[in-house]
Amino acid sequence: AKADTNNTNGTLVVGTNAAFPPFEYVGDDGEPDGFDMALIKAVGEKIGMDVQIQDMEFDSLVSSIGSKIDVAIAGMTVTEERQKTVDFSESYYEAVQAVIVPKDSAIANADDLKNLTIGVQLGTTGEFIADEIEGVNVSAYNKAVDAVNDLINGRLDCVIVDKNPAEVFGTQYSDKVNVLPGTDFDFEPEFYAIALPKGNTELANKINTAIQELKADGTYDNLVKEYIEE
Ligand code: ARG
Repeated sequence: AKADTNNTNGTLVVGTNAAFPPFEYVGDDGEPDGFDMALIKAVGEKIGMDVQIQDMEFDSLVSSIGSKIDVAIAGMTVTEERQKTVDFSESYYEAVQAVIVPKDSAIANADDLKNLTIGVQLGTTGEFIADEIEGVNVSAYNKAVDAVNDLINGRLDCVIVDKNPAEVFGTQYSDKVNVLPGTDFDFEPEFYAIALPKGNTELANKINTAIQELKADGTYDNLVKEYIEE
């Protein structure tokens, strides 16, 4: 039997990596939840498509667009490298990297990061930044929280990860770590967007229009309040 739904334009298969709170995480019911999940569901409603979420490794999202998934929403930063493979929607969030350090760490600025052992999530902008720092030994993990655990175990000097998840982990392990802002390290602003199949302007236009409508009608602000500023 067909579901009773207003969605007539089919299903949008959306890839994410649900280990990046508050943007995506596995909820108590075992399903992906978070800001990005709520945003893409609202977009789906606007464009009349059912949203089906596929949780996968962050590092395989871009290459899976057009095969396993239609689009990806994963706190993904727009980068020139990724734009060789995919298009991006208009940006829906401005972010920056942060540095998580053990409570007793002396790390305070960009110079202090040289020659350290740094944990990152594989395939992320945090990894790309760490790779550029002089003399470092970069350990890449499939999940940022695994890097945080190795930081707590003493195997890493610091973790470079996006600010909002860093703050979530910082609160979770507040007796063991501190979170230092990206401004202390001259990190550049980053812009999150939905990754789209290259050249599909019809889908891009629909999704961009939906984002604009959600910003105009207050839905976007409500989601920021509910998931990010709570
Ligand atoms: N913003 C960073 C990037 O685009 C990290 C994103 C990680 N997202 C995730 N869902 N694990 O590379």
